[in-house]
Amino acid sequence: MAIDLYGLSRVVGEQGVLPQRAKKLDASLPLRDGELLIDVESLNIDAASFKQLKEAAGGDPEKIIASIRGIVAARGKMQNPVTGSGGMLIGRVREVSPSHPAAKTLQPGDRIATLVSLSLTPLVIDEVRALKPQIDRVDVKGHAILFASGIYARLPADLPDTLALAALDVCGAPALVARYVKPGQTVVMLGAGKSGALCLAQAREAMRGQGRLIALDISQQALDTLRGLGLCDHAVACDATQAVEVMQHVSRVTGGALADLVINCASVPNTEMAAILSVREGGTVIFFSMATSFTAAALGAEGVGKDVTMIVGNGYVPGHAELTLELLRRQAGVRKLFEQRYV
Ligand SMILES: NC(=O)c1ccc[n+]([C@@H]2O[C@H](COP(=O)([O-])OP(=O)(O)OC[C@H]3O[C@@H](n4cnc5c(N)ncnc54)[C@H](OP(=O)(O)O)[C@@H]3O)[C@@H](O)[C@H]2O)c1
Repeated sequence: MAIDLYGLSRVVGEQGVLPQRAKKLDASLPLRDGELLIDVESLNIDAASFKQLKEAAGGDPEKIIASIRGIVAARGKMQNPVTGSGGMLIGRVREVSPSHPAAKTLQPGDRIATLVSLSLTPLVIDEVRALKPQIDRVDVKGHAILFASGIYARLPADLPDTLALAALDVCGAPALVARYVKPGQTVVMLGAGKSGALCLAQAREAMRGQGRLIALDISQQALDTLRGLGLCDHAVACDATQAVEVMQHVSRVTGGALADLVINCASVPNTEMAAILSVREGGTVIFFSMATSFTAAALGAEGVGKDVTMIVGNGYVPGHAELTLELLRRQAGVRKLFEQRYV
């Protein structure tokens, strides 16, 4: 019999539904044919999800932990029911089914990071060891299951685990930048946090000295840091939910030309129109943010009569993990930023 490539057999009570859409997954052991079992050490909760959990808990760490435990107990996966998003994890391989594609390359004890979302990864939390709200992380003891189609990366020996975990969580973003940014472009980065910093660093390289990088974020401090590292040419503190205001800032900085490309990495909802209004006619927006609404983007662009190409930021781009780790090895500035924030 063929192996269960996508984990359909782990879905509870919904025939033909894929694990990401499922209400509940069965994360019980023993391991099944074609699967990989991981002893989990840390979860990196998706930024949009963590922000929502933190706000709902009024910032109380005990309540955040209780929400995370409650979601995982109810759903068999860490998928925030409000944002729909997950995150990723690091841990140690406990067992590899002989029919899993990694059976010959991974050994029990190997340390890996999953590159598929927690929103589709069967997970059991036995114990929460620590919550680190500043960096969206929770250290746990538990187990997770990766299906045969689930991608992963070995944790690199030359970078601290926690740094790799933070960077790999958003490694699709700089990989998309490598694909779309061209020399001479004006690029706007909306939300200049973790993924934003990596995107700016990658965009700087892709532009090969020609073009302009504009970073917009609600935090002046984050912008000052990025500017200090030379990761952007202009930094504007503004609220990405204020679409017209954002457009006016971009228009002022670009002399009315607007951006060729806007990358939306803001971790809050209602930022679609700031991105759409800030891009020139015929330009491109990459929506990497998990708080993006397809409806708001599609109907919003139509509503203002704007012909823009809108790209859904697929978290998977071939070679994305290695591209991101190499970027951190090459660019001392962004690496220092990650070390200060995540190590
Ligand atoms: N497409 C994918 O596969 C994928 C994978 C992983 C993550 N994501 C998503 O990508 C987004 C960014 O993730 P990240 O890890 O880079 O998050 P992050 O480090 O928290 O960065 C988000 C940035 O947005 C800023 N921000 C918050 N509210 C804002 C506002 N109203 N206006 C302007 N800026 C605002 C934040 O500032 P403060 O820190 O001051 O709040 C922060 O600097 C999230 O939505 C995340 O869910 C997508």
